[in-house]
Amino acid sequence: MSLLQVLDDYQNEALQVISQCGELSEIEEARIRFLGKKKGRLKEIQTQLSTAKPEERPLLGKRFNEAKNAVEASLNARKDELAKPAKQIAGLDVTLPGTAFPLGKRHPISKTISEFKEIAGRLGFDVADGPEVEDDYHNFVALNIPDDHPARDPLDNFYLSVAQEGAGGPWLLRSQTSTVQIRVMEQVPPPVRIVSTGRVYRPDTIDATHSCMFHQMEGLYIDKHVTMSNLKTTLKMIATQYLGDDIAIRFRPSFFPFTEPSVEVDIQWGENWMEVGGAGMVDPNVLKAVGYDPEEVSGFAFGLGIERLCMKRYGVKDIRLLYENDLRFLSQF
Ligand code: PHE
Repeated sequence: MSLLQVLDDYQNEALQVISQCGELSEIEEARIRFLGKKKGRLKEIQTQLSTAKPEERPLLGKRFNEAKNAVEASLNARKDELAKPAKQIAGLDVTLPGTAFPLGKRHPISKTISEFKEIAGRLGFDVADGPEVEDDYHNFVALNIPDDHPARDPLDNFYLSVAQEGAGGPWLLRSQTSTVQIRVMEQVPPPVRIVSTGRVYRPDTIDATHSCMFHQMEGLYIDKHVTMSNLKTTLKMIATQYLGDDIAIRFRPSFFPFTEPSVEVDIQWGENWMEVGGAGMVDPNVLKAVGYDPEEVSGFAFGLGIERLCMKRYGVKDIRLLYENDLRFLSQF
Protein backbone atom coordinates (compact mmCIF):
# COMPACT_ATOMS: atom_id res chain seq x y z
CA MET A 1 0.00 0.00 0.00
CA SER A 2 1.37 3.42 -0.90
CA LEU A 3 2.02 5.90 1.84
CA LEU A 4 -0.59 8.24 0.33
CA GLN A 5 -3.10 5.47 0.73
CA VAL A 6 -1.97 4.92 4.33
CA LEU A 7 -2.53 8.61 5.08
CA ASP A 8 -6.04 8.52 3.52
CA ASP A 9 -6.98 5.46 5.56
CA TYR A 10 -5.58 7.08 8.68
CA GLN A 11 -7.64 10.24 8.20
CA ASN A 12 -10.86 8.38 7.37
CA GLU A 13 -10.61 6.10 10.36
CA ALA A 14 -9.77 8.96 12.73
CA LEU A 15 -12.69 11.12 11.61
CA GLN A 16 -15.05 8.17 11.88
CA VAL A 17 -13.95 7.35 15.45
CA ILE A 18 -14.07 11.00 16.57
CA SER A 19 -17.59 11.49 15.23
CA GLN A 20 -18.73 8.63 17.45
CA CYS A 21 -17.21 9.98 20.66
CA GLY A 22 -19.98 10.61 23.17
CA GLU A 23 -17.93 11.89 26.08
CA LEU A 24 -14.94 14.12 26.68
CA SER A 25 -12.93 11.16 28.02
CA GLU A 26 -13.44 9.36 24.68
CA ILE A 27 -12.17 12.44 22.84
CA GLU A 28 -9.00 12.29 24.89
CA GLU A 29 -8.57 8.57 24.11
CA ALA A 30 -8.98 9.31 20.40
CA ARG A 31 -6.42 12.14 20.59
CA ILE A 32 -3.83 9.81 22.15
CA ARG A 33 -4.63 7.08 19.65
CA PHE A 34 -4.36 9.19 16.50
CA LEU A 35 -2.11 12.15 17.42
CA GLY A 36 -0.21 10.90 20.48
CA LYS A 37 3.44 12.03 20.44
CA LYS A 38 4.79 8.72 21.72
CA LYS A 39 2.66 5.87 20.35
CA GLY A 40 0.06 7.64 18.21
CA ARG A 41 -0.72 6.34 14.71
CA LEU A 42 0.65 9.52 13.16
CA LYS A 43 3.97 8.97 14.85
CA GLU A 44 4.17 5.56 13.18
CA ILE A 45 3.39 7.03 9.79
CA GLN A 46 6.00 9.71 10.30
CA THR A 47 8.60 7.02 10.85
CA GLN A 48 7.58 5.32 7.57
CA LEU A 49 7.82 8.66 5.73
CA SER A 50 11.54 8.79 6.40
CA THR A 51 11.90 5.69 4.20
CA ALA A 52 10.22 7.37 1.21
CA LYS A 53 12.16 8.33 -1.92
CA PRO A 54 13.41 11.95 -1.81
CA GLU A 55 11.31 13.00 -4.85
CA GLU A 56 8.12 11.73 -3.24
CA ARG A 57 8.74 13.50 0.04
CA PRO A 58 7.33 16.99 -0.72
CA LEU A 59 3.93 15.57 -1.76
CA LEU A 60 3.83 13.10 1.12
CA GLY A 61 4.81 15.85 3.56
CA LYS A 62 1.99 18.06 2.33
CA ARG A 63 -0.54 15.24 2.60
CA PHE A 64 0.81 14.36 6.05
CA ASN A 65 0.15 17.89 7.32
CA GLU A 66 -3.34 17.96 5.79
CA ALA A 67 -4.30 14.71 7.52
CA LYS A 68 -2.89 15.88 10.83
CA ASN A 69 -4.77 19.22 10.63
CA ALA A 70 -8.03 17.54 9.66
CA VAL A 71 -7.86 15.18 12.63
CA GLU A 72 -6.97 17.99 15.04
CA ALA A 73 -9.83 20.17 13.76
CA SER A 74 -12.29 17.34 14.03
CA LEU A 75 -11.21 16.58 17.61
CA ASN A 76 -11.64 20.21 18.65
CA ALA A 77 -15.03 20.56 16.99
CA ARG A 78 -16.38 17.40 18.64
CA LYS A 79 -14.98 18.52 21.99
CA ASP A 80 -16.80 21.88 21.74
CA GLU A 81 -20.03 20.13 20.83
CA LEU A 82 -19.85 17.81 23.84
CA ALA A 83 -18.94 20.66 26.19
CA LYS A 84 -22.20 22.54 25.46
CA PRO A 85 -24.58 22.33 28.45
CA ALA A 86 -27.61 21.04 26.58
CA LYS A 87 -28.89 20.66 23.09
CA GLN A 88 -29.77 24.06 21.72
CA ILE A 89 -33.17 24.33 20.15
CA ALA A 90 -33.64 27.39 17.98
CA GLY A 91 -35.44 30.12 19.93
CA LEU A 92 -35.22 28.30 23.25
CA ASP A 93 -32.93 29.57 25.95
CA VAL A 94 -32.87 26.89 28.63
CA THR A 95 -30.96 29.13 30.99
CA LEU A 96 -33.87 31.56 31.39
CA PRO A 97 -36.00 31.18 34.55
CA GLY A 98 -39.08 29.01 33.92
CA THR A 99 -42.60 30.29 33.46
CA ALA A 100 -44.46 29.71 36.71
CA PHE A 101 -47.50 27.49 36.13
CA PRO A 102 -50.44 29.12 37.92
CA LEU A 103 -51.73 26.38 40.19
CA GLY A 104 -55.44 26.56 40.95
CA LYS A 105 -57.01 26.40 44.37
CA ARG A 106 -60.12 24.80 45.71
CA HIS A 107 -63.19 27.03 45.71
CA PRO A 108 -64.24 28.19 49.20
CA ILE A 109 -67.62 26.49 48.73
CA SER A 110 -65.93 23.18 47.84
CA LYS A 111 -63.65 23.57 50.85
CA THR A 112 -66.62 24.21 53.12
CA ILE A 113 -68.48 21.20 51.73
CA SER A 114 -65.47 18.93 52.32
CA GLU A 115 -65.12 20.23 55.85
CA PHE A 116 -68.81 19.74 56.62
CA LYS A 117 -68.67 16.18 55.33
CA GLU A 118 -65.65 15.48 57.46
CA ILE A 119 -67.19 16.99 60.59
CA ALA A 120 -70.42 15.06 60.01
CA GLY A 121 -68.39 11.93 59.33
CA ARG A 122 -66.73 12.22 62.72
CA LEU A 123 -70.23 12.40 64.24
CA GLY A 124 -71.13 9.13 62.53
CA PHE A 125 -73.00 10.45 59.47
CA ASP A 126 -72.62 8.79 56.08
CA VAL A 127 -72.66 10.88 52.91
CA ALA A 128 -75.56 10.43 50.47
CA ASP A 129 -76.27 12.02 47.10
CA GLY A 130 -79.37 12.83 45.11
CA PRO A 131 -80.25 14.23 41.68
CA GLU A 132 -80.57 17.96 41.00
CA VAL A 133 -83.45 17.39 38.58
CA GLU A 134 -86.23 16.05 40.77
CA ASP A 135 -89.76 14.82 40.37
CA ASP A 136 -92.82 16.19 42.10
CA TYR A 137 -92.99 13.23 44.45
CA HIS A 138 -89.53 13.60 46.03
CA ASN A 139 -89.47 17.41 46.10
CA PHE A 140 -92.99 17.80 47.50
CA VAL A 141 -95.41 14.88 47.91
CA ALA A 142 -93.30 12.57 50.07
CA LEU A 143 -92.21 15.59 52.11
CA ASN A 144 -95.82 16.16 53.13
CA ILE A 145 -96.18 19.28 51.00
CA PRO A 146 -99.79 19.34 49.79
CA ASP A 147 -100.94 20.26 46.28
CA ASP A 148 -102.05 23.75 47.23
CA HIS A 149 -98.97 24.62 49.29
CA PRO A 150 -97.28 27.91 48.32
CA ALA A 151 -93.87 26.16 48.17
CA ARG A 152 -95.06 24.62 44.89
CA ASP A 153 -95.77 28.00 43.31
CA PRO A 154 -94.32 28.15 39.78
CA LEU A 155 -92.94 31.57 40.65
CA ASP A 156 -90.89 30.02 43.45
CA ASN A 157 -89.53 27.05 41.51
CA PHE A 158 -87.70 26.20 38.30
CA TYR A 159 -90.15 23.78 36.71
CA LEU A 160 -88.83 22.10 33.59
CA SER A 161 -90.94 22.37 30.47
CA VAL A 162 -89.99 18.81 29.43
CA ALA A 163 -91.82 15.68 30.48
CA GLN A 164 -94.63 17.47 32.28
CA GLU A 165 -96.72 14.38 31.87
CA GLY A 166 -93.85 11.90 31.99
CA ALA A 167 -93.10 9.55 34.83
CA GLY A 168 -93.21 11.49 38.07
CA GLY A 169 -93.69 14.82 36.26
CA PRO A 170 -93.72 17.71 36.54
CA TRP A 171 -89.98 17.82 37.02
CA LEU A 172 -88.08 20.71 38.52
CA LEU A 173 -84.62 21.74 39.65
CA ARG A 174 -84.80 20.69 43.30
CA SER A 175 -85.59 23.58 45.62
CA GLN A 176 -84.12 21.85 48.67
CA THR A 177 -81.87 18.92 49.56
CA SER A 178 -84.64 17.43 51.74
CA THR A 179 -85.42 15.32 48.64
CA VAL A 180 -82.42 13.18 49.57
CA GLN A 181 -84.03 12.29 52.92
CA ILE A 182 -86.77 10.53 50.97
CA ARG A 183 -84.44 8.89 48.45
CA VAL A 184 -82.29 7.44 51.22
CA MET A 185 -85.16 6.20 53.38
CA GLU A 186 -86.72 4.54 50.32
CA GLN A 187 -83.53 2.54 49.93
CA VAL A 188 -82.55 1.52 53.45
CA PRO A 189 -84.40 0.50 56.61
CA PRO A 190 -83.77 2.43 59.84
CA PRO A 191 -81.46 3.33 61.51
CA VAL A 192 -80.30 6.02 59.09
CA ARG A 193 -77.69 8.68 59.69
CA ILE A 194 -76.70 10.67 56.60
CA VAL A 195 -75.75 14.09 55.38
CA SER A 196 -76.11 15.24 51.80
CA THR A 197 -74.60 18.34 50.26
CA GLY A 198 -75.39 19.91 46.93
CA ARG A 199 -76.99 22.62 44.85
CA VAL A 200 -80.56 23.82 45.14
CA TYR A 201 -82.39 26.24 42.88
CA ARG A 202 -84.92 29.00 43.58
CA PRO A 203 -85.84 31.91 41.33
CA ASP A 204 -84.90 34.56 43.88
CA THR A 205 -83.85 38.01 42.74
CA ILE A 206 -80.07 38.01 42.89
CA ASP A 207 -78.47 40.45 45.35
CA ALA A 208 -75.69 40.45 47.95
CA THR A 209 -77.37 37.75 50.02
CA HIS A 210 -79.53 35.89 47.46
CA SER A 211 -78.74 33.70 44.52
CA CYS A 212 -80.98 31.58 42.29
CA MET A 213 -78.62 28.66 42.97
CA PHE A 214 -76.97 27.90 46.27
CA HIS A 215 -75.82 24.94 48.34
CA GLN A 216 -77.33 23.15 51.30
CA MET A 217 -76.24 20.42 53.64
CA GLU A 218 -79.09 18.16 54.62
CA GLY A 219 -78.85 15.96 57.69
CA LEU A 220 -81.09 13.07 58.67
CA TYR A 221 -80.93 10.82 61.71
CA ILE A 222 -83.62 8.17 62.25
CA ASP A 223 -83.42 5.61 65.02
CA LYS A 224 -85.18 4.58 68.18
CA HIS A 225 -85.51 7.39 70.72
CA VAL A 226 -83.93 10.20 68.72
CA THR A 227 -84.83 13.51 70.35
CA MET A 228 -84.76 17.25 69.78
CA SER A 229 -81.81 17.58 72.15
CA ASN A 230 -79.81 15.20 69.92
CA LEU A 231 -80.62 17.60 67.09
CA LYS A 232 -79.46 20.67 68.97
CA THR A 233 -76.26 19.00 70.15
CA THR A 234 -75.45 17.81 66.63
CA LEU A 235 -75.97 21.27 65.15
CA LYS A 236 -73.98 22.91 67.92
CA MET A 237 -71.08 20.52 67.30
CA ILE A 238 -71.11 21.13 63.55
CA ALA A 239 -71.22 24.92 64.07
CA THR A 240 -68.43 25.02 66.65
CA GLN A 241 -66.19 22.66 64.70
CA TYR A 242 -66.55 24.78 61.59
CA LEU A 243 -66.55 28.28 63.11
CA GLY A 244 -64.91 27.95 66.53
CA ASP A 245 -65.73 27.21 70.17
CA ASP A 246 -67.29 30.58 70.97
CA ILE A 247 -70.28 29.93 68.70
CA ALA A 248 -73.73 29.65 70.32
CA ILE A 249 -76.78 28.30 68.56
CA ARG A 250 -80.46 28.95 69.14
CA PHE A 251 -83.76 27.54 67.87
CA ARG A 252 -86.75 29.68 66.91
CA PRO A 253 -90.16 28.05 66.39
CA SER A 254 -91.05 27.70 62.73
CA PHE A 255 -92.98 25.55 60.31
CA PHE A 256 -91.97 23.02 57.66
CA PRO A 257 -94.51 20.50 56.31
CA PHE A 258 -91.99 17.64 56.76
CA THR A 259 -90.94 18.30 60.38
CA GLU A 260 -92.95 18.64 63.57
CA PRO A 261 -91.95 20.52 65.63
CA SER A 262 -89.95 22.73 63.29
CA VAL A 263 -87.33 25.36 64.04
CA GLU A 264 -85.18 27.97 62.40
CA VAL A 265 -81.54 27.57 63.39
CA ASP A 266 -79.57 30.71 64.31
CA ILE A 267 -75.94 30.95 65.27
CA GLN A 268 -74.39 33.72 67.31
CA TRP A 269 -71.34 35.42 66.00
CA GLY A 270 -70.09 38.21 68.26
CA GLU A 271 -73.11 40.39 69.06
CA ASN A 272 -75.32 39.17 66.22
CA TRP A 273 -77.55 36.21 65.52
CA MET A 274 -77.64 34.85 62.00
CA GLU A 275 -80.11 32.37 60.51
CA VAL A 276 -78.30 29.40 58.96
CA GLY A 277 -81.05 26.90 58.21
CA GLY A 278 -84.14 24.97 59.20
CA ALA A 279 -84.58 21.80 61.22
CA GLY A 280 -87.02 19.71 63.19
CA MET A 281 -88.26 16.28 64.13
CA VAL A 282 -89.23 14.30 61.02
CA ASP A 283 -93.01 14.38 60.59
CA PRO A 284 -94.71 10.98 61.07
CA ASN A 285 -96.36 11.41 57.65
CA VAL A 286 -92.91 11.47 56.04
CA LEU A 287 -91.87 8.32 57.90
CA LYS A 288 -95.07 6.61 56.74
CA ALA A 289 -94.52 7.71 53.12
CA VAL A 290 -91.25 5.74 53.03
CA GLY A 291 -92.66 2.74 54.90
CA TYR A 292 -91.10 3.44 58.32
CA ASP A 293 -93.20 2.93 61.45
CA PRO A 294 -93.51 6.24 63.37
CA GLU A 295 -94.40 4.27 66.50
CA GLU A 296 -91.06 2.47 66.32
CA VAL A 297 -88.61 5.11 65.17
CA SER A 298 -88.25 8.86 65.30
CA GLY A 299 -85.65 11.21 63.99
CA PHE A 300 -84.46 14.67 63.17
CA ALA A 301 -83.61 16.47 59.98
CA PHE A 302 -81.85 19.72 59.26
CA GLY A 303 -80.95 21.79 56.23
CA LEU A 304 -78.07 24.27 56.49
CA GLY A 305 -77.19 27.00 54.01
CA ILE A 306 -73.60 26.35 53.02
CA GLU A 307 -72.98 29.82 51.54
CA ARG A 308 -74.13 31.51 54.75
CA LEU A 309 -71.62 29.62 56.88
CA CYS A 310 -68.84 29.83 54.30
CA MET A 311 -69.28 33.61 53.96
CA LYS A 312 -69.23 34.00 57.72
CA ARG A 313 -66.09 31.94 58.04
CA TYR A 314 -64.16 33.77 55.32
CA GLY A 315 -65.64 37.23 55.84
CA VAL A 316 -67.25 37.38 52.37
CA LYS A 317 -69.86 40.14 52.20
CA ASP A 318 -71.47 39.49 48.81
CA ILE A 319 -72.67 36.03 47.73
CA ARG A 320 -72.23 36.92 44.05
CA LEU A 321 -68.46 36.92 44.48
CA LEU A 322 -68.64 33.16 45.03
CA TYR A 323 -69.99 32.54 41.54
CA GLU A 324 -68.13 35.03 39.37
CA ASN A 325 -64.95 32.97 38.99
CA ASP A 326 -62.79 36.05 39.43
CA LEU A 327 -59.32 34.76 40.23
CA ARG A 328 -58.44 37.94 42.14
CA PHE A 329 -61.17 36.95 44.59
CA LEU A 330 -60.72 33.18 44.54
CA SER A 331 -56.95 33.18 44.96
CA GLN A 332 -57.35 34.68 48.44
CA PHE A 333 -58.60 31.42 49.95
N1 PHE B 1 -85.52 22.07 53.38
C1 PHE B 1 -85.69 23.23 54.25
C2 PHE B 1 -85.39 24.49 53.44
O1 PHE B 1 -84.78 24.40 52.40
C3 PHE B 1 -84.80 23.18 55.45
C4 PHE B 1 -85.10 22.03 56.35
C5 PHE B 1 -84.44 20.82 56.21
C6 PHE B 1 -86.04 22.16 57.35
C7 PHE B 1 -84.72 19.77 57.04
C8 PHE B 1 -86.33 21.12 58.20
C9 PHE B 1 -85.65 19.92 58.05
O2 PHE B 1 -85.71 25.58 53.83
